[in-house]
Amino acid sequence: MAKHDGLNRRSFLKRAGITAFAAGAVGGGPLAAVASAAAAEAAGNTKFDFDTPYSRVGTDSVKWDQQIRTYKKPNLIAGMGIADMDFRCAPCITNALAERIKHENWGYLDMPKDYTDAIGAWNKKRYNLEIDPESLVLTTGVHPGLIAALRSISPPGTKVLLNTPTYNGFYGDLRATGTLPEDVPMRNDSGKFSIDFDEFERHISSDTHAYILCNPQNPTGNMWSQEDLMKIGQICLQHRIVVLADEIHCDFVMKGAKYTPFASLPDKKVVNNSITFKACSKSFSLAAMKNAWCFSTNPDLIAKVRANNRADITTLGMVANKAALTEGAEWLDQLLPYIDSNHEMVANYVKANMPMVKCVKAQGTYLQWLDVTAVADKIGAKQKAASMSTGKRMVSPEQVVQDWFAENAKVALNAGSSYGTGGQNHQRMNIATSKKTLQAALDSMAMALKKL
Ligand SMILES: Cc1ncc(COP(=O)(O)O)c(C=O)c1O
Repeated sequence: MAKHDGLNRRSFLKRAGITAFAAGAVGGGPLAAVASAAAAEAAGNTKFDFDTPYSRVGTDSVKWDQQIRTYKKPNLIAGMGIADMDFRCAPCITNALAERIKHENWGYLDMPKDYTDAIGAWNKKRYNLEIDPESLVLTTGVHPGLIAALRSISPPGTKVLLNTPTYNGFYGDLRATGTLPEDVPMRNDSGKFSIDFDEFERHISSDTHAYILCNPQNPTGNMWSQEDLMKIGQICLQHRIVVLADEIHCDFVMKGAKYTPFASLPDKKVVNNSITFKACSKSFSLAAMKNAWCFSTNPDLIAKVRANNRADITTLGMVANKAALTEGAEWLDQLLPYIDSNHEMVANYVKANMPMVKCVKAQGTYLQWLDVTAVADKIGAKQKAASMSTGKRMVSPEQVVQDWFAENAKVALNAGSSYGTGGQNHQRMNIATSKKTLQAALDSMAMALKKL
């Protein structure tokens, strides 16, 4: 076996200490993506192929390779953790990268105006958002943007409000800025989450200056309504707390749900009290290309962020993102119903075949939040976690359940405990993969649970 997927997999696997391959490997170099899409189109199929499993093993991916290394499971059935997707990227991205690679010089990049124009046009066309180019700040990811904003408005030692469970990466941003998380647990009515506005207000104190809104909410998949956003926006305005609206998952809107950009709210004062953070990194799975942007209608706020931000954007990152924004809409439009049907598939399968697991179909994101209370009880996760914890390393019951699924089902999930208060007894499952891989993962989980 010499080369697969355009990579020397044997040498990678040797470095990684892995001798076999995960299931579902499909060959073909990067340019084959373009050819296969063209072939599918010619055959009268849908234009882009999300259905053929596309192996990422051998690419140093967190979602697959890191799990294979961690769990020493070369035959991992599915990496279903970190939030990126398993599909071949949009052919327009591969084409643009291939074209740029022909020119063999990689000196400093002058950011072209047509890139920032493309960001403006994308936001106008898809969400009817007008972004003043003067207010647009490019960042090397949503994290660096959030960190620059926190440094601008929330001095070390002050508190940052979070509706929990929430994206675990926010806690890292707070550590990086010396700020402190103030978890505001959401209401959980049989798996349906909502913001408790009274609780939110109770958590505000004189040293609260920022709130990180996650819309859609990672990991629970809530799409916040205009009414929710207005309420929270008004509370924040009243208490002089700046809203940092992370809308990175905004394209993943499931059937019957709606995305309301915070910047589109009808109250100008509420909008002026916010900064919005966006990227192509989820929509087009360009996470390691390190490009994102933020904007605000408030010139003072955005000037402060600009002062604390340093964006050394790479040439290939810019090329990939520009291609996605200018030519990728069709690919994304075909992907979204595929993700929605994956969500349906998971909700139906869990209901029919996993009595120990509960879930409510997400309104947004490609993440599914699973209630695994019964599994945790059955395997004695609390007792195991207590016995494994030492003064140096605390193990949570959710990590025990996560390890149990990796060991017994060869499926890697994310432990709910890392998502803050309310993450107890949950696991997060990333469903952005082919239906074949999804089916194999669900079957394997159900089989492992049946043996309990
Ligand atoms: C809500 C949310 N914000 C930010 C990020 C990370 O963004 P970036 O990779 O652009 O820094 C993620 C990644 O999973 C996320 O889910």
